[in-house]
Amino acid sequence: MKQYYDVEAVRKLFPAVEKMTYLDSGFQTPMSTPVKQALEAFVSESYETAGPKSVWIERMEATRAKVATLLNAAPEEIAFTKNTSEAMNIAANALPLKAGDNVLMIHGDHPNNAYAFLNLRKKGIEVRFIDMADIVNAESFASLIDANTKAISMSYVTFHAGHRFDIESVGTLCREKNLYFIIDIMQAVGVVPIDAKTVRATFIGCGTHKGLLVPQGLGLLYWDRTRIELEPAYLAAISLQNPPSDFIARPDDMAVADTARRFEIGNFNLPGIHALDAALDLIAQIGIDNIQAHCFELGDRLIAGLEELNIELVGPRDHALRAPHIYVAALPADEWMDYFASEDVRVSPERDGVRISLGMFNNASDVDRLLEVIRARRETGRAPRAA
Ligand SMILES: Cc1ncc(COP(=O)(O)O)c(C=O)c1O
Repeated sequence: MKQYYDVEAVRKLFPAVEKMTYLDSGFQTPMSTPVKQALEAFVSESYETAGPKSVWIERMEATRAKVATLLNAAPEEIAFTKNTSEAMNIAANALPLKAGDNVLMIHGDHPNNAYAFLNLRKKGIEVRFIDMADIVNAESFASLIDANTKAISMSYVTFHAGHRFDIESVGTLCREKNLYFIIDIMQAVGVVPIDAKTVRATFIGCGTHKGLLVPQGLGLLYWDRTRIELEPAYLAAISLQNPPSDFIARPDDMAVADTARRFEIGNFNLPGIHALDAALDLIAQIGIDNIQAHCFELGDRLIAGLEELNIELVGPRDHALRAPHIYVAALPADEWMDYFASEDVRVSPERDGVRISLGMFNNASDVDRLLEVIRARRETGRAPRAA
């Protein structure tokens, strides 16, 4: 296999992956040493000095700038949230929608994206779904657009089959039709390059516990700052352009910040943000293009191995249509998951099979071991059928 970076050195930073065959980054990545050290340093400061909050906030701004670089955005366009769901709900409720308007989505997309918009139905907003398909692009949505269509919301990469949809063409369509464009990048971020400007996104949301290597409880929101009309549904002092320095609320001065801070509410997940800082440094050091290329190579090896075993791949095979790191093998999950667990192979059950998802630390031996474990069960004669 081609070496895009020193995978074995990276692997040493994730001790958990030496104890099992970890192929479940689409669920959550194991903690790395730099992230652990960042969390420990935060705990020590907090424990020993009662917390230099102003220093933590300064560091948070430095982390915000790194997030902005990752998405080709300005730091003023990045807000910290709790997770993807919160980011999607902030976005959905900031859109200036009225009864009779409609929003377009993909049927079967992640529910944490869908419910944020389905909840708007109580305000008389319609949610229209296109069918899930291997290819989703501008053309997929075009026929559903009418004069009342105001937005499209979709995932970039699907969690259940690793599709990588054509968000660039959908973004262009949204620009042409004057629609807001909201993208859930939870399964893409940290592995697939994302350029908020090229895809002309209005909002982009994600959590950080998959490709961004942080424990659960921290999310990100990108907001196109030219969309100044988009205001938050919730408000706290931090959301304002002029938070009152005497901590007395001023009903006559409630203009929201002209940055993405308008979408932030109250205090922050500072341990998570410290962890994210370390993770972003690690990702930048390796290079997102290298992570992507490495995962594609492993994916190609996996697809070839599954083919040899006569196991179908769910979802697209073509690099142009798939994410580098998410693959679903058409094996009935209920018959295989216990077996994989008994062999210390970590994968996830999915709607159409078993999901194998890769991270920066996976190597060819991980893929080969998975294939070997499948082959071994088949050869004992107790092998479950292919789905
Ligand atoms: C596409 C997608 N969106 C969102 C989520 C999770 O949402 P949240 O970050 O709110 O837990 C996942 C998986 O956990 C996902 O795959």
